[in-house]
Amino acid sequence: MSGPLPVCYLNGNFLPLTEARISPFDRAFLFGDGVYEVIPVYGSRPFRLRQHLDRLNRSLGGIRMTPPLAHGDWAHVCQELISRNHADEAYLYMQVSRGAEFGRNHLWPEGLKPTLFAYLTELEPLPSALADNGVAAVTAPEIRWARRDIKSTSLLGNLLLKKLAADAGAFETIMLENGELTEGSSTTVHVVKNSVIHTPPNSHHILPGTTRDVVTELADLLSIRNVSAPIPESALRAADEIWLAFSTRGVLPVTKLDGVPVGAGKPGPLFKRMSIAFTNYVRELGRTPAL
Ligand SMILES: Cc1ncc(COP(=O)(O)O)c(C=O)c1O
Repeated sequence: MSGPLPVCYLNGNFLPLTEARISPFDRAFLFGDGVYEVIPVYGSRPFRLRQHLDRLNRSLGGIRMTPPLAHGDWAHVCQELISRNHADEAYLYMQVSRGAEFGRNHLWPEGLKPTLFAYLTELEPLPSALADNGVAAVTAPEIRWARRDIKSTSLLGNLLLKKLAADAGAFETIMLENGELTEGSSTTVHVVKNSVIHTPPNSHHILPGTTRDVVTELADLLSIRNVSAPIPESALRAADEIWLAFSTRGVLPVTKLDGVPVGAGKPGPLFKRMSIAFTNYVRELGRTPAL
């Protein structure tokens, strides 16, 4: 497994990751009081940077924080990290926490200095078996909080759900709530039936996925119908294809759900079209400015 690259960004400085220090009173450490983004980097260029930064600011608004940096400043941080680490294919993690105070109060004092942290991890090529054969997923009831649209660092529910998948030898856990699909523990779920792509509507129940939006845009370009509407459990189980969409891997096919083959039990025809379109889109963007 590839580890983080050596140079990170912390509160305005670029420094060796091994020398980065924050206070134990940082509220992200004590309470998970912070938000984050994960941005893929292809060909040394951050992918869909504006959309990620818009979502970061949306998450900050959700926890009543003011954006500490403008998009242009974040773009500079990203570009510096990429060049100082000689990163090519990687993913960038950025986190903003409410900051540290001397003490531990549920009610935060106003005017804290936020803690800003970012680093890069090399993106290893996807094992060809995963792309060729797809991945397995299991289902589980939702156990997370009611504002899943905020990309919060409080991820305990997601972590426990990911562990469920691992325990079952699967890649992802797909959640069900009140008889409907929400999302995966770290992925947006798309369901294909009769050549139409279905995805649950954005709401407080799920994270507004950036990869999901790419899938929607590409589906339009490919003239594949796509519908954003609630997905009952029965529709999930009767899917011709199921896809997981997430920043670090784009789109991945689920070929087994709770031990049962999805459709023909192998990556479906629409997935193959989407996957090619995604790769081409990444290549095309490579020649354009990041913001
Ligand atoms: C809970 C959850 N849903 C969906 C996604 C997919 O979002 P994106 O495509 O922006 O990576 C993620 C990504 O980490 C996630 O954690």
